[in-house]
Amino acid sequence: MTYQISPSILSCDFANLEKEVRAMQQAGADMIHVDVMDGHFVPNISIGLPVVASLRKKTDAFLDVHLMISDPLTYAPQFADSGADMIVFHVESDSDVQATIQSIKAKGKKVGISLKPKTPAEAAFPYLTQLDMVLVMTVEPGFGGQKFMADMCPKVAAIRKECDRLGLAMDIEVDGGISNDTIGQVCAAGANVFVAGSALFGKPDYAEAVKSLRAHAQAAV
Ligand code: DX5
Ligand code: ZN
Repeated sequence: MTYQISPSILSCDFANLEKEVRAMQQAGADMIHVDVMDGHFVPNISIGLPVVASLRKKTDAFLDVHLMISDPLTYAPQFADSGADMIVFHVESDSDVQATIQSIKAKGKKVGISLKPKTPAEAAFPYLTQLDMVLVMTVEPGFGGQKFMADMCPKVAAIRKECDRLGLAMDIEVDGGISNDTIGQVCAAGANVFVAGSALFGKPDYAEAVKSLRAHAQAAV
């Protein structure tokens, strides 16, 4: 299993976005996690289409775009056109899940669905064969820097088990409170893509922080 680190720019210095993304890439990050919030699906507003488009012009980094918005069916294709490589949306949104998956695939992009903490693993099961990734939130979506919810580990394990049963080499991503202290638990449960905001952009040495996070994941299995 290859472990991938996806730094969340939510915790970066937005006034120096290009510099921050480049630094994280040079530090060994596998992709860049872009948190999009609409102030409706979650009680916070972050960034939107123009920022993804601007970033796309400046970097070849794989952009892992996490849509925390009420209407992904309308906006996901626009994020695809703006340069997202992977689009992850929430099953709890107002959009039809099946139609939204199709709208992203029709753009030739990778697609994932995300589950909030109170949403059971089974909510993802009907769609697994069509997905590249399942994102299990390990905090309530909306803000960086929150405390990791260890009780999400069984959900990760249940999704991994179902993917194995179906013979799917699924990426399972976890997002929220991931640090050197918590990454081992979710890794052991079956996650292989790790979003981290404050644990990476909060550190003085990005390369050291990425390396350390990866080492703590590997040590757990
Ligand atoms: C939360 C976002 C996360 C967040 C993670 O709604 O989806 O990506 O930035 O931040 P940390 O790693 O600080 O919990
Ligand atoms: Zn996120």
